[in-house]
Amino acid sequence: MRVVEWIERKRRGGHLSGEEITQLIRGYVAGDIPDYQMSALLMAIVFQGMDEQEITSLTLAMADSGDRLTYPKNLGFLVDKHSTGGVGDKTSIALMPWLAAMGVPIAKMSGRGLGHTGGTIDKLESIPGFRTELNQAEFVQQVEAIGIALAGQSGNLAPADKMLYALRDVTGTVASLPLIASSIMSKKLASGADGIVLDVKVGEGAFMQNEADAQVLARQMVQIGTQSGKKVVALLSRMDEPLGYAVGNALEVKEAIDTLRGCGPDDFTELCYALGIEMMLLAGLTKSPSEARHKMKEAIENGQALEKMRQWIDAQGGIGDVVIEPEKILPRAPFVLTVHAPQSGTIEKIHALAAGEIAMRLGAGRATKTDKIDVRTGLVFLHKVGAELQADQPLVEIHARSEQEALAVQNDVLHLFEWGNHTSKIPPSIVIGR
Ligand code: URA
Repeated sequence: MRVVEWIERKRRGGHLSGEEITQLIRGYVAGDIPDYQMSALLMAIVFQGMDEQEITSLTLAMADSGDRLTYPKNLGFLVDKHSTGGVGDKTSIALMPWLAAMGVPIAKMSGRGLGHTGGTIDKLESIPGFRTELNQAEFVQQVEAIGIALAGQSGNLAPADKMLYALRDVTGTVASLPLIASSIMSKKLASGADGIVLDVKVGEGAFMQNEADAQVLARQMVQIGTQSGKKVVALLSRMDEPLGYAVGNALEVKEAIDTLRGCGPDDFTELCYALGIEMMLLAGLTKSPSEARHKMKEAIENGQALEKMRQWIDAQGGIGDVVIEPEKILPRAPFVLTVHAPQSGTIEKIHALAAGEIAMRLGAGRATKTDKIDVRTGLVFLHKVGAELQADQPLVEIHARSEQEALAVQNDVLHLFEWGNHTSKIPPSIVIGR
């Protein structure tokens, strides 16, 4: 292998062939290519980018680095959903049972959080007893029995991505369009769904900070999936302020439950509708977005979505009654500090990235892969951007392990807010590939 030559060629902006990329991924997974060479190549990719052919080759090489899951045909058209990562993003937890209740079979593999973005698996593990490690037989059986299963990524699903992602996380090479597109799509192709809805986050709390980059990323992922015979739709959604009110694992599960009870935050509920509509259209369960929305609304009003969530949690060993009494069953932080508005005015901004970082410091996220998280901790915003407040009104709750830890972040929490006199409009989400 001529790894040094490949690094130098990429550094100068040259092209790597499909064969070279395949050898590179195989060599890295086999341990023949050391981290320092792979890191140098990743950094060259961050600066020079990759063309479409290179991105497709990288995606396929990573998807083929481990098992590719297959499902019995009788399960029907399986639809998956993936978010590029946000703060307060508990969408899968509400949306998956919601859609399963309407007959969309759900077989989803999810990840843990890293950095300032949270992971679905960590959030679900805040439900006492909930098992996220299902073997493939259990996984398929559960989808056959109740129409929904959600598990952590199996050991051998796109292992090249797992290794590369861990390396990128500590070498400043996460925020690269070709690397994000190939990372996400390799996992999606390996996990075997027929249709995929991608939630591409854009804004200061997202990996893609501007809309033009997010659109390129979305188109790239749609193209990779379509070339591999999948139906793929991407939706661009804003990540400027945290999604919903809650940031932190058990706090977010409670908010997902509230949403299925019909009393979730407006922005979060709307995002669930937007993604759910695309998933229903892909699954062929409805002909129009308005019909899909109507059916989703019905599943909330008649309680079927909440009941499916209870059934799903029970099936995975958790206490299903958490959907009835989340306050009693979910673990709670021992200390809650309410921070009050320092002035009167309209909230113009709540910085999402910094909010994710504060939640992490409180124990809700990991700074490194081996850190243990505390599912009880995090932030609950009491207002969203656009709210008008009087000085001293309650503004945010800090859920912490101790008074000392809450007080340590109090000042930074106040700095999350920008105040003004007018309401800023939240741009609507954009659909690509429908
Ligand atoms: N999510 C992923 O799965 N991979 C990335 O590279 C970024 C976000």
